[in-house]
Amino acid sequence: MTTSRQSYVKRGNRRIGGWLFPYSARFIDMLLDLQLECGVQGAVGEIGVHHGKLFILLALGRRVEEAAFAIDVFDHQHLNLDRSGKGDRDVFLANVRRWLARPDAIHILQRSSLNVAPADLLQACGPVRIASIDGGHTEECVVNDLLLVQAVLAPRGVVILDDNFNEFWPDVSSGVARYLFDPAATMRPFAITPNKTYFAATGDVGFYRRLLRSRNAYFFEKTARLFGCDIDIFGTQAYTFSLKRRVIERIRHTPVAPYARALRATMRRLAR
Ligand SMILES: C[S@@+](CC[C@H](N)C(=O)[O-])C[C@H]1O[C@@H](n2cnc3c(N)ncnc32)[C@H](O)[C@@H]1O
Repeated sequence: MTTSRQSYVKRGNRRIGGWLFPYSARFIDMLLDLQLECGVQGAVGEIGVHHGKLFILLALGRRVEEAAFAIDVFDHQHLNLDRSGKGDRDVFLANVRRWLARPDAIHILQRSSLNVAPADLLQACGPVRIASIDGGHTEECVVNDLLLVQAVLAPRGVVILDDNFNEFWPDVSSGVARYLFDPAATMRPFAITPNKTYFAATGDVGFYRRLLRSRNAYFFEKTARLFGCDIDIFGTQAYTFSLKRRVIERIRHTPVAPYARALRATMRRLAR
């Protein structure tokens, strides 16, 4: 991970307006590292960038030769049919200039994603290895955006979808259901972190599940089923982050673990 990406994940992103849980930022950061290590190549980008909070993290994870795209209606807010966020091109560009070395290398498509064709994206930046979908939250937009990124996904590419389980945006989950039951769908969900659901091509799901679980053992909470797919859940429970659990986990992997267990049992007996 580069130093600027590190400081953006730790502190920088907090100064930018938008929506991104700290653990999801860390998880996406690790996903970017994993793709770099495994030689996954392609552009990065987002549908619905608002002020650039997540977009900048994705763009900081690029190789020099890789492109980035940003799709947002920005000041054409009459196209933002469900009022999800409110992109601002000037604020977005100021944040991009602050954090990215080559701001001119960003391909901005200022229009509704409903009017973006796969060929537009391929022409602008080629196949995509990591894309976030966080634009219009209507069922129509979600199905459109999933099919759009599916059509441009590079081998071993990943798609991050926002708000799939947010009770304020039920259309997102019905859009996901419509997509998954569409015979044209080639991606499947494989992970969940706070407010984010991750998809990859069916054949790549095993690859990501294996690597992400081994690198995130501490934050792994459980495997669940979503529309017939096994999906791993990471970092969603407050208990996972509690100091008590951290201390217990640390001690569990040291030689004093059996003594600590015996002490705990004795204290429990005495307390009765
Ligand atoms: C929830 S915000 C995105 C938050 C952002 N991903 C972040 O990191 O904070 C949703 C964004 O999608 C944009 N948007 C809404 N409808 C859209 C559409 N149909 N096509 C493209 N962008 C859209 C809005 O202008 C807004 O900036």
